[in-house]
Amino acid sequence: MNEGIKIVEVGPRDGLQNEKQPIDVETKVGLVERLVAAGVTNIEAASFVSSKWVPQMAGSAEVMQRVPRLPGVHYSALTPNLKGLEAALAAGCEEVAVFGAASESFSQRNINCSIRESLERFRSVIEVARENKLLVRGYVSCVLGCPYEGPIAPEKVAEVALLLREMGCYEISLGDTIGRGTPKTTRQMLDACMKVIPVAQLAGHYHDTFGMAIANIAASLDMGVRTFDSSVSGLGGCPYAAGASGNVATEDVVYLLQGMGYETGIDLPKLVEAGAFISAALGRQTTANAVALFESVGAEIFAKNPHTLYLWASLPGVPDSLALAQGLLPQKIVMAPGRIFSVDSSEVSPWSRFNVGAVADPRFAKALRGTLKRLASRCPHSDDHFDG
Ligand code: HMG
Ligand code: MG
Repeated sequence: MNEGIKIVEVGPRDGLQNEKQPIDVETKVGLVERLVAAGVTNIEAASFVSSKWVPQMAGSAEVMQRVPRLPGVHYSALTPNLKGLEAALAAGCEEVAVFGAASESFSQRNINCSIRESLERFRSVIEVARENKLLVRGYVSCVLGCPYEGPIAPEKVAEVALLLREMGCYEISLGDTIGRGTPKTTRQMLDACMKVIPVAQLAGHYHDTFGMAIANIAASLDMGVRTFDSSVSGLGGCPYAAGASGNVATEDVVYLLQGMGYETGIDLPKLVEAGAFISAALGRQTTANAVALFESVGAEIFAKNPHTLYLWASLPGVPDSLALAQGLLPQKIVMAPGRIFSVDSSEVSPWSRFNVGAVADPRFAKALRGTLKRLASRCPHSDDHFDG
């Protein structure tokens, strides 16, 4: 049997905490439901922080109460202090996470206290959590660079990680908060941490600001790391690390791991569907590259009358619901004599008309253009054309 990898899906927390627009509980729960349907078993679904500091995480208690509780599915939530822990306990969390940093300035900006003060706070959070039989995860941020201080010494990362481990965190997640790491610095940082903590208790949490996260995961795999945090659709960032982009996309991590022969238990097409759901809800483009696998498309006509054509886009490996979520199928093209024209794509109904030029994915637009051209050549009006 292939070796298993634990993926911790942090999209509902790290992913959504940085969004500018309000996100309702319904959407957050809908995302978690789809992740679970894709086989994701470890999900950081909430954050019990001050909503003055991170407004997007308001409603976390309701999210935790509504997510599907299934055997083998584990949820966790961030808890910076005892107040957060109390809220997490009341909401039925089974796992919480404290989050410290290897950078003094980031600690101050993110949680309003020094590293030493934060560790003192965490000590009591961890104690009470464990008395209540909760698992506690520990984060160390800025392990490969700080937005305020620049490079961070690997030894400083190892020191904070060890303190969290000694206080009772079962796993230490190493956060490249601003995505500055490269395989070389990742190895150096891991090397320092592995001198004091068994690699089985370390996790990689890499943001993809400079497109290095997949390379850093590959380097970490070589070093023996078997747990990685990621965000579906590449959502994410930290409100207290300007310029930090999303976490590495879970779709790309799964693609990498499957390709390398590791077992994740995650169904990639269904994961892509979860990503399409949240991307559509937020009106954003995915940053996951693996999504392209499911967009090698063709388009064909499946019904026709003198004025209306219905195009069916065949998307190999993509369930219809995903294509519908992306507004790809079916599509109605209205014909006028001598002219096939396409209009506004802003209508979201599956029967909406669309403008080929507005289709985001160039391959999809190309496939549709090809179909429309073939169609025009078969049309009785020889001067037919379409706006594309
Ligand atoms: P503070 O202002 O120093 O706290 O904030 P305070 O104890 O003085 O309390 C101030 C107010 O906040 C009070 O309310 C408290 O009740 C309230 P008021 O009397 O003014 O009405 N408060 C809380 N409310 C709800 N839940 C709580 C809570 N605690 C106090 N738990 C605090 C300190 C830690 C609360 C604040 O700085 C905070 O919430 N920071 C969170 C920052 C954050 O969430 N950052 C993003 C997550 S970390 C991250 O993304 C990195 C990671 O992904 C890894 C990586 O990428 O590196 C994990
Ligand atoms: Mg993060």
